[in-house]
Amino acid sequence: MSARAADGDAGTAIMLPPFVPDRFTQLHHTTAWSTLEPAVRRRYNRLYGVRCNEQFMLFESGFTARVVGRIAEHARRRGERELVVRLEGLLADEIRHHRAFDAFNRARMPEVCAAGPVFTALPPRERAALDVAARTPALWPVLLWLVLALEEFSIAFAAMVCAAPGIDPDYAALHAAHARDERRHVHLDAEVLTWLLGRAGRAARRVQAALFRRLLAEVVAPRRSGVAVIRRLCREFPPLAAHEAVMVGEVRALGQDRGVRDLLDDPRRMPTCAALARSHPEFAWGAFRADPSRR
Ligand SMILES: [Fe+2]
Ligand SMILES: [Fe+2]
Repeated sequence: MSARAADGDAGTAIMLPPFVPDRFTQLHHTTAWSTLEPAVRRRYNRLYGVRCNEQFMLFESGFTARVVGRIAEHARRRGERELVVRLEGLLADEIRHHRAFDAFNRARMPEVCAAGPVFTALPPRERAALDVAARTPALWPVLLWLVLALEEFSIAFAAMVCAAPGIDPDYAALHAAHARDERRHVHLDAEVLTWLLGRAGRAARRVQAALFRRLLAEVVAPRRSGVAVIRRLCREFPPLAAHEAVMVGEVRALGQDRGVRDLLDDPRRMPTCAALARSHPEFAWGAFRADPSRR
């Protein structure tokens, strides 16, 4: 596909370093990718990197904060002072992370993000469902597993970004700093989760595990934000508009976001989840189920 930039920022994208490895992006895994010119690919990559930051912001403020906030309230009522302090520390970290991701996006891509997130939003229906779920103690193990998986994923994501050659050094530094806090969070999540799972009966754990894997599948499916990046790209490069439906269709047809799945499924990159899945095999997913050390 041949395309001419609609604006200077998009047109000079090729001169700017990528934010993420191309293989982490959704479009990279479609047939459309090979037809895109280098400047278009690079602009897509940088829009995608900004969208990843937005996803971390949405996840941490919309999901982690709700779930951990409820568990902290419960711990406070039980008089578990030390745990409350640690959970409140985690919540304060997430507020800081949200500010850091938002500031990066606004500073590095003001033409897109000056007014805040553009690719991600929590629809009111999902927000309401999440509120109800977070107030349901029986669901805390499921929700905390998801918090843990996504926090450990953010460490794996940072490691991937920092190890990839040629990545924008500021983007890599942002995620390296994020991962330093998340390592602490992962330990805390695992401790609380082990405690919660220990209190649940076997039958309850089976139901929780099935729900957990279902939610994880939802996380890995390409959804609105990936499509929103393609739509933005097509607005910036008008000749692409004729191919927009094909690109969107190909990304949706992937079924799974391969970049996310490959990190989430790798026991070496997700060691805490892998270890917990060994103790609680009903919660294991993907490659963790086939981990030979579990047999
Ligand atoms: Fe965070
Ligand atoms: Fe975190």
